Amino acid sequence: MKTSLVTGGASGIGIEFVKLLLKDNYKVFIVDNNKNNIENLKDKLDSNNYESIYEDLCYEKSPDKIYKKLKKENIDILINNAGFGTYGKFYETDWQIEKRMLNLHVINTTHLTKLFLKDMIKKNDGKILNISSIAAFQPGPLMALYYATKAYILHFTEAISNEVKDKNITISVLCPGQTNTNFQRNVSSIKNKIKFNTSSPTKVAKYGYDALHNNVTVSIPGIFNKFLVNLNRFLPRSISTNIVKYIQEKNRN
Ligand SMILES: NC(=O)c1ccc[n+]([C@@H]2O[C@H](COP(=O)([O-])OP(=O)(O)OC[C@H]3O[C@@H](n4cnc5c(N)ncnc54)[C@H](OP(=O)(O)O)[C@@H]3O)[C@@H](O)[C@H]2O)c1
Repeated sequence: MKTSLVTGGASGIGIEFVKLLLKDNYKVFIVDNNKNNIENLKDKLDSNNYESIYEDLCYEKSPDKIYKKLKKENIDILINNAGFGTYGKFYETDWQIEKRMLNLHVINTTHLTKLFLKDMIKKNDGKILNISSIAAFQPGPLMALYYATKAYILHFTEAISNEVKDKNITISVLCPGQTNTNFQRNVSSIKNKIKFNTSSPTKVAKYGYDALHNNVTVSIPGIFNKFLVNLNRFLPRSISTNIVKYIQEKNRN
C-alpha cells in the first residue's frame, strides 16, 4: 500500500491534501495538534484509510517521535504543511510563540525532511512537498519572522530538490497567496479585510499536489500571485518591503 504523511492535515490546506491522497489510494498519516479538528476528521473525509497522530510539532523531539512511529510504514509522500502566523512589530510580539514558530517552520520541517528523505534515498523513490508562501519572496514588516521562515523553507527546498535531481525523488515547494483558512482568521487582529485574490484551500492544495506529481520545484498558485512574486525582481527591495508593510497594516489592523 502507498503511504503518506501530512503535517497540519486536520484543517485548511492540509485536509485538502489528505483528500487528494485518499482519492489516489494512499494511506494517510495525519499529524496535527488540534484535538477538535482531529476528532472532526471522520465527518470531513469520505474514506477511513487514514490514521491521526496528535502531536505538537513545535517540540524538538517531535520529528524523532513521529519518524520512530512511522519508519516501518515506508512513507512515499511527505507533506510538511503545518504552520501558523503571528502579527505585530518584532519588538512587541511574544517570543514564546515566535520560538514555537521557528521550531515548527524551520527546525522541525528540516528535521522531518531529513529523516524521511534518507529512507527515500535508500529505496530511490519518494516525494516531499514543503509549504512555503508568497511571503517567501520579500521581507515582511509586521510579520517579520513568518516571512523569514517561509523564505527559509523556499530556499532550503529548492536547494535539496536540486541535490536529488538525478534520483527518482521529487522535492517541491508550494507558495500560496492568501487562502481562506483558519490561518488567516488566527493571524488577523479583527478579520483580514483584503478579500480580492483570496483562494480556496481546495484549489491551492490541488495546485501544489499536481506540481509535485509533475516534478515542478516551485509552484505558485494564481496568476496575480505569480505577478506579485515576479514584480519583486524589478522593484528596489526597500519599495517591496514598504508595500508589504502597507498591505499588512491595511489588512490586519
Ligand atoms: N492560509 C493562507 O493564507 C496561507 C498562505 C500561504 C501559506 N500558508 C501556509 O499553509 C500551511 C497550512 O496553513 P492553513 O492556511 O491551511 O492553516 P490552518 O487552517 O490553520 O491549518 C494548519 C493546521 O496545522 C496545525 N498546526 C499548527 N501548528 C501545529 C503544530 N505545532 N503541530 C502540529 N500541527 C500544527 C493547525 O492546528 P491549529 O488549529 O491548532 O493551529 C491546523 O490544523 C501553513 O504552513 C501556512 O503557513 C497559508
